[in-house]
Amino acid sequence: MITRVDSVRPMTVEQNTLASDQMPRHVAIIMDGNGRWAQQRGKPRVWGHKNGVESVRRAVSFCRQKGIASLTLFAFSSENWRRPEGEVSTLMELFILVLNNEVKKLNRNDVRLKVVGDTSRFSDKLQAKIQKAEELTKNNTALVLNIAANYGGRWDIAQAARKAAQDSIDNNECVDNISEAAIDKHMCLADQPPLDLLIRTGGDFRISNFLIWQAAYAELYFTDVLWPDFDETAFTEAVGAFVERERRFGFTGEQIKNQTVTSPCPIIEQE
Ligand code: FPP
Repeated sequence: MITRVDSVRPMTVEQNTLASDQMPRHVAIIMDGNGRWAQQRGKPRVWGHKNGVESVRRAVSFCRQKGIASLTLFAFSSENWRRPEGEVSTLMELFILVLNNEVKKLNRNDVRLKVVGDTSRFSDKLQAKIQKAEELTKNNTALVLNIAANYGGRWDIAQAARKAAQDSIDNNECVDNISEAAIDKHMCLADQPPLDLLIRTGGDFRISNFLIWQAAYAELYFTDVLWPDFDETAFTEAVGAFVERERRFGFTGEQIKNQTVTSPCPIIEQE
């Protein structure tokens, strides 16, 4: 089910009416529209990325307030290396700046930072900062903030499939027995609740090789709001749309309504 909303549409669900048992546990966001936001203001594209950091802060704060367990942000895709060199290096500098300026605050707020993706292509300096930030925040429990950096959904599936195959070899098992669950347990976000809600800002209707495995049963939400304008109202609107959806996981609406289904997640059921 796909919902598109205009940024001007009035909120359907007021913030304070969202009950905690209706809230998504895991939200992911494709933070699109930074370049256009800057260009609309006669500024270079990287200005939009810099302003996008404020939206990241707001989104983290929203998730903390609402008790959302995991927030996964698409900061840099495995395809984003194709961008002009200046934009890529500004984004790398911005990641370092964010790690320098924000990690202590995240730690004080009980937020665990996790970077998902192939970080081996980043500079030694950035890799060291990532490692330090993850180490500092590893015991925090209020929210996991996953930053997807040099991340691609196909890369994630391939690395998980390799590990599942290796498990199979190590245990002298036949590869025919490799199940969805055997792959799922090696996916980057396997330690966290299943993805409930995938939001894309910026008006496009694509997943862009983001969490393609994890999005199998996620609710998709697309908004025209450009990422630097994505505020608490826009996030509330997205969550409001989510709570109004009926998630069926292959069952009928009647089965769900009559609560004859206890564990609707297909992967958990498999093993
Ligand atoms: C997509 O907008 C945005 C990005 C590729 C980068 C997102 C990065 C940030 C918001 C800042 C850093 C964040 C963290 C968490 C360290 P776009 O450039 O494709 O916009 P456009 O579609 O208007 O061109």
